[in-house]
Amino acid sequence: MKRLAGREAADRVSRGMRVGLGTGSTVACFLEHLSARIARGELPGVVGVPTSVRTEEAARRLGIPLAAPDELGALDLAVDGADEVDPRLDLVKGLGGALLREKMVAQASARMLVIVDDSKLVGRLGERAPVPVEVVPFGHASHMAWLRELGAEPRLRTGGDGGPYRTDNGNLILDCGFAGGIEDPSGLDGRLASRAGVVESGLFLEMACEAVVAGAGGVRRLEREGP
Ligand code: A5P
Repeated sequence: MKRLAGREAADRVSRGMRVGLGTGSTVACFLEHLSARIARGELPGVVGVPTSVRTEEAARRLGIPLAAPDELGALDLAVDGADEVDPRLDLVKGLGGALLREKMVAQASARMLVIVDDSKLVGRLGERAPVPVEVVPFGHASHMAWLRELGAEPRLRTGGDGGPYRTDNGNLILDCGFAGGIEDPSGLDGRLASRAGVVESGLFLEMACEAVVAGAGGVRRLEREGP
C-alpha cells in the first residue's frame, strides 16, 4: 500500500519542480519511484530538499539531486507521510522524529501532499498516535506537569541505546498521549507555540492540501476543503 501511495506521489512531480522530501517508510517508497523517473530522464531540473538526515542519505544513494532550503527559497510541492490524518486533512506527524524540518519544508511549499495507507485515517487527532513535542534539552522536565494540565500524558522518547532520543537538531521529544483524542487541536497548538522551550509540535494544522490514501481497493485522493 505504501508503494502505491509513493508511486502516485512520484507521478505528481513534473520537470523543474523544487520538491520537499519528507521522512518515513512511505516517503522511502516515494523516493524510489522518484529516483526511477529521474533515471529515465523524465524529470530534468527536479531538485529535492530533504527533511531529515535519513532522507538525505537515502536520496543521495538514489541519485536524486538535492539542495538546502536556503539555496532554493520557495518550493513547489512537499511530499510527506503522516501518523494520523483527520477528515479536515489535519495531521499528527513526527513519530519518525523529523517534525521540525518537516514542518519548515511544508510551510515553504506551495502545496503539501500527504501519502498514507488507510490505517492512518482517524476521526479525531491524537486518538491513536501520541503528539510528539520537540523541546530544547535545557529544563525539559519542567514541561511535564504543564503538559499534564493540558490533558496530555507525556513521555520522554528514548533511542535504541535506552538514552534520550535526539532529533537531527539536537533536541528531545516528549510524546504526548491524549486519551480519547484531542478536543481542540488548534487551541492546543496555540498553547504549545507560546511555551518557551518548546521548539515545535507534531500537529500539522491547515497545511496539507491533498492526501493520497492507499487501501486494499487501491488509491483514493482526499482534498482539503477551503483555503
Ligand atoms: C517522520 O518524522 C514522520 O512525520 C513520518 O512522516 C510519519 O511518522 C509517517 O511515517 P511512515 O510513513 O513510516 O508511517
